[in-house]
Amino acid sequence: MKPNQLSENIFCLPVHDRSTRLFEGLWPIEKEGITYNSYLIRDEKTVLIDLCKELFQEDYLKELRTLVDPARIDYLVINHMEPDHSGALHAFRQAAPQALILGSAKTVKMLDDFFGITANIRSVSDGEELDLGSHKLRFISAPMVHWPETMFTYEVSTQTLFPCDAFGGYGIPENGIYDGDYSDLSYFETEALRYYTNIVAAFSKPVLNAGDKLSGLPLRTIAPSHGLVWNKDPQRIVELYLKWSSYGKEPAEKGVTLLHGSMYGNTDKMVAEVRRGLEASGVPLTVHDVTTTPVSYILPALWINQGVVIGAPTYEGTLFPTMQMVLHMAEIKRVFNKQAAYFGSYGWGGGATRFLNAQFEKMNWKLGEVLDFVGQPTEDDLKAGFAFGKRFGES
Ligand code: FEO
Repeated sequence: MKPNQLSENIFCLPVHDRSTRLFEGLWPIEKEGITYNSYLIRDEKTVLIDLCKELFQEDYLKELRTLVDPARIDYLVINHMEPDHSGALHAFRQAAPQALILGSAKTVKMLDDFFGITANIRSVSDGEELDLGSHKLRFISAPMVHWPETMFTYEVSTQTLFPCDAFGGYGIPENGIYDGDYSDLSYFETEALRYYTNIVAAFSKPVLNAGDKLSGLPLRTIAPSHGLVWNKDPQRIVELYLKWSSYGKEPAEKGVTLLHGSMYGNTDKMVAEVRRGLEASGVPLTVHDVTTTPVSYILPALWINQGVVIGAPTYEGTLFPTMQMVLHMAEIKRVFNKQAAYFGSYGWGGGATRFLNAQFEKMNWKLGEVLDFVGQPTEDDLKAGFAFGKRFGES
């Protein structure tokens, strides 16, 4: 986690977290890891922007000391209070008690609520500017991206935006922190989408509001607090985020997510046929087994694809609970306005569709065709499964 020099006097200190198993206690990042990026601006007035998780505070402060004596830092800007960025606050205050904390008015209250810190704080307002010497900061209120206190910080002379969570992603950029260090960005864009759907999607409208505030602002560098720093093509990640955010309200992309789960294999027998039918339709298709795939990896497909096919059995008069959990999380993350179809096995009375009707009402999903069958599917059922998948894909 060596510091990176963004410009002559702006540095990124990326903390590499390879030890957290579940981000927010929910989202698997064991394989991918995550970074907490903090930024230092050295000028007549020296500023630090955001910190890192408490677990890494000692290593973080050690790296910070290679750039500046903390006792010479004038300001700590807190864009966002979530503990992955503020956890090192007490340790930082011990090292830099003179640093004035700058944040939104809500941050001031949260500093007391979360850390018991009430002194040496000043709230800044939307659009307020702060001269550092040759740099100038502008604070941009961005409430609910993704907590109510959140703001972005913009450095005017280098046209650098520090948007904290926005435009960030899971994953550790091992071979350079800049987008220009990679000829293929697909891994980072995939992980940015997963991060977006896991963390930010429920606040898509506030993201669009923040996007409106950024329009017309020259952006040479996007420097988020997770993942890559975008200075080769900063508009790329902005456009992706705004496109994803628009799916909170507008129809998403032509494509189908096939979600399936089975207790004893009867529904599974039908999955292959429905899948064949969907593939025959030519529609872009993403398939997830909900019994083996954490919902973190399922949400991106649900968010992007307009169609959803659910294959799962009835379980004790309702839908197979593992599938219910996926749909409940989709509701929490505001995955709304989808076209859906259902197939699955039942033993005697059915009941899965009763759950689906009630659940879809809350999410504005339209349930089209239903293909259910008793016990194992017959040859006729399997033929019907192929046609069912093809029809849905073509619709
Ligand atoms: Fe990366 Fe909302 O914290």
